[in-house]
Amino acid sequence: MKKVTSQYICNECKTIYSKWIGKCDKCNNWNTITEVVNDTSSFSILNNKKNLNTLSATNALSFTDFQSKEEDLTRYISNLKEFDRVCGGGIVPGSVILLGGDPGVGKSTLLLQLIANLSNNYKCTYISGEESTNQLKRRAKRLNLFNINADLAATSSLKDILYTLNNKNIDLLIIDSIQTMYLEGIDSLPGSITQVRGSASEIINFCKSNNTAAILVGHVTREGQIAGPKVLEHMVDAVLHFEGDNTKNFRILRSIKNRFGSCDEIGIFQMSEDGLIEIENPSSLFLNDYKHNISGTAVFAGMEGSRAVLVEVQSLIAPSSFSSPRRSVVGVDLNRLYMLMALLETRYKVPFNYKDVYVNIAGGIKISDPAVDLAVCASLISAIKDIALPENSTFIGEVSLSGQIRNVFNLDKRINECLRLGFKNVFIPKVTSKNRLSNLDKFKSSINLVELDNIYQLIRVITNAN
Ligand code: TYD
Ligand code: MG
Repeated sequence: MKKVTSQYICNECKTIYSKWIGKCDKCNNWNTITEVVNDTSSFSILNNKKNLNTLSATNALSFTDFQSKEEDLTRYISNLKEFDRVCGGGIVPGSVILLGGDPGVGKSTLLLQLIANLSNNYKCTYISGEESTNQLKRRAKRLNLFNINADLAATSSLKDILYTLNNKNIDLLIIDSIQTMYLEGIDSLPGSITQVRGSASEIINFCKSNNTAAILVGHVTREGQIAGPKVLEHMVDAVLHFEGDNTKNFRILRSIKNRFGSCDEIGIFQMSEDGLIEIENPSSLFLNDYKHNISGTAVFAGMEGSRAVLVEVQSLIAPSSFSSPRRSVVGVDLNRLYMLMALLETRYKVPFNYKDVYVNIAGGIKISDPAVDLAVCASLISAIKDIALPENSTFIGEVSLSGQIRNVFNLDKRINECLRLGFKNVFIPKVTSKNRLSNLDKFKSSINLVELDNIYQLIRVITNAN
């Protein structure tokens, strides 16, 4: 007997209920609860022996078989280097990638450029449920992509798409976007959780059986009845996020999950009239307007994925006219700033009362690496004392609540990047036998490494600089 049960899930906070209610008890939103049908007929399947295959008939392999399979190593290389690196060195055949991002951030533009690069060597199909084929062609023309050797189609019917493409040996299928796809037989609107999940699961099955790679576009939505890419993250092989806001002209492609590569890798692109331009040297982008001799600015060498990137930390400290002074940050964690200010105030008598404090990472990149602490402290001390930091210097180190400067990972990569960009002094945590760099002597001959044990030494360096 086939047993069908239903669950009711809130589109906003994903709370599950056993019956439908008009208002979610958890997030208090109205009309956000939708029905999801669970088919729990698994036990009855065993009673029906017709059409059953044994595991060996469905290509079961032993691990030794897998290891000898060389085709696992091949990937589709697009030569959009930033994209390839974020994927872990190219797209793995048969894998399904979810590309999420706010509407208008540039996902379709990126994919059209990607397919233009890949279509010379691989069989690619681009399905758009959002734009007509004429619009797609016009967009390609505007991006100066004249010879895209791929098939384009504008449709939302997933049944038509998969039926047409089955056994056609497609290497890469792009679905723009999963929220516009519609699967017949599911009784809810495109974009609902049930449709989005059902469509994605059909595409994944298709990809695994045809060895076709797919990129599914998923718009990030904050409200309404449309399910966001979050509901698919566990189903796909890799999740990439395309980020950036309309005030900045660069975009970051970030890997959130990757079954075939490392996550936390980023790719940086600059937007232009002709589409996205890869930025292979991000430090030059973020340090573009950096000027020495201005108090409150400190350069930090951070790690973004496997690359070191130099960014400028800026602080401004102004007399406050509020009863509780303002503390405002862009690009660093506000709680971390509170902690560092409390440390400077309590242990080193740097006074922030009656003062508004603003901290900004130039260029709009977000830093979550704790190694930025030393640069934030240096920029705060420099701003409050109105003394510029020593010229051509960078600051790397995590600061503990005792005021000690702690070691950070990948110190040699960070120092190398400072060296490459012509910096002369790098302030680093004290080198001990434990964290000794293998190429310390090489660095010492080409750059001035200033080892700091605690914040007190940092204050001395800054006040003696003038
Ligand atoms: P689009 O790729 O349509 O965004 P999404 O698919 O994520 O919704 O891009 C949005 C708009 O920005 C579109 O009008 C084209 C424009 N754009 C550029 O002009 N240059 C660029 O480099 C990018 C990425 C977008
Ligand atoms: Mg789009």
